[in-house]
Amino acid sequence: MRFSRPRGTQDIIPPEVDTWRFVERVFEEVCERYGYRWIRTPIIESTDLFVRAVGEGSDIVTKEMYTFTDRGGRSLTLRPENTASVIRAYLENGMHRWGGIQRLCYLGPMFRYDRPQAGRYRQFHQVGAEAIGSFNPALDVEMIQLVVEVFTGLGFSDVDVRLNSLGAAQSRGPYRAILLEALEGLAARIDPESMDRYRQNPMRIFDSKEYGDALKRELPSISAHLATEDGEHFARVKDLLTSAGVRFTEDPYLVRGLDYYTRTVFEVYYGSYGAQSALCGGGRYDDLVEECGGPATPAIGFSAGLERIVSALAGRVEGKPGAGPPLRYYVVCDGEGSEDRALPLGSMLRARGAAEVDFSGRSRKKQLQVAEKKGARFAVIVDAAREGALTVRDLVAHSDAEVAEAALPQWLDDHEEKEGGA
Ligand code: HAM
Repeated sequence: MRFSRPRGTQDIIPPEVDTWRFVERVFEEVCERYGYRWIRTPIIESTDLFVRAVGEGSDIVTKEMYTFTDRGGRSLTLRPENTASVIRAYLENGMHRWGGIQRLCYLGPMFRYDRPQAGRYRQFHQVGAEAIGSFNPALDVEMIQLVVEVFTGLGFSDVDVRLNSLGAAQSRGPYRAILLEALEGLAARIDPESMDRYRQNPMRIFDSKEYGDALKRELPSISAHLATEDGEHFARVKDLLTSAGVRFTEDPYLVRGLDYYTRTVFEVYYGSYGAQSALCGGGRYDDLVEECGGPATPAIGFSAGLERIVSALAGRVEGKPGAGPPLRYYVVCDGEGSEDRALPLGSMLRARGAAEVDFSGRSRKKQLQVAEKKGARFAVIVDAAREGALTVRDLVAHSDAEVAEAALPQWLDDHEEKEGGA
């Protein structure tokens, strides 16, 4: 019987996995330099958490969640995103009492039952960061700087950061009425079922795939209707970004598919990569901690999709430090019983560099071909018939040396020193 992976999932195998590791390392390195600490939360959470945080009427909650009842009758959901989980963990572990801003980062699989297509999977992976505990627009700027630094570190010199403000409740209430009125004026061009949804949450129109920009741009934008305080916050974010030399494009129609956002929102696009597919999205969510039962605590964060980043990189990572150390030694086992000597040899060599022992039982010639193909520097041949002696093949110089088994470390020291000096 043959099995295949579920639709919308991927196996990430060598050599492509090296690109993944490269992206993860750049992300880790940048986050750690900004003082972020790692957080790991469960992949399953109670369904209510996402309904509450992401929003009852959002596409994610209404159509895309992997929800099941466990044997104890609880409704659980495979996390469609991680911000809700981070906030749940922040509160559950009393981190709101730790004082100051908590800067947390993460990496892991997320699950959304969406129609699989380029850049859209049912199991996908995000790296992300959340900074919890400040309203200060400077924190928004620091977060966007971090994002840009990750992309620069990956070799994307020219990402497009799109920025908007969705305002807070004081803007949203009056704007909702204005938008709804404008929408009713366009009702003839909108199908009745969607119109019913927009009556519940009119800003969903900006996120809908059914209606093009032309229709959307006939509607008033939120950023043109911000209350004074929200407008000032947004203006300060833009000023600080400009003085920090961070390039951005203001997009008054940018909204996000999750309901928890307030004020600053942003997405990152990359020129040649699908115009519709953001590499990264994020923003402020100043009400979420309180909505999840905690004290009023502002926060901002982002997540970036690894599949999309890897695909946008499209193999442009040659020679980058993702693949781990290159294979240095390859131990060839020739003849029955050679393993007894090859195993301790492997341990000795691994203390010097990456080493692999060939237990395939294939011919010496075949094993040597593999050593060469894998790019090993030296092949160490253990011949069962020759107790105490080894052949070391220099796979670059294509020369063989006969070396006493006990003298191998010294032989390698001499050779590698010469090589280092050359
Ligand atoms: P999001 O925009 O839903 O935001 O997802 C962030 C990123 O995840 C997207 O820009 C995209 O790169 C990737 N992504 C989303 N869905 C898929 C999919 N089906 N297949 C492949 N990649 C996908 C969030 O998840 C928020 N939690 C971001 C955030 C953090 N906001 C504040 N803090």
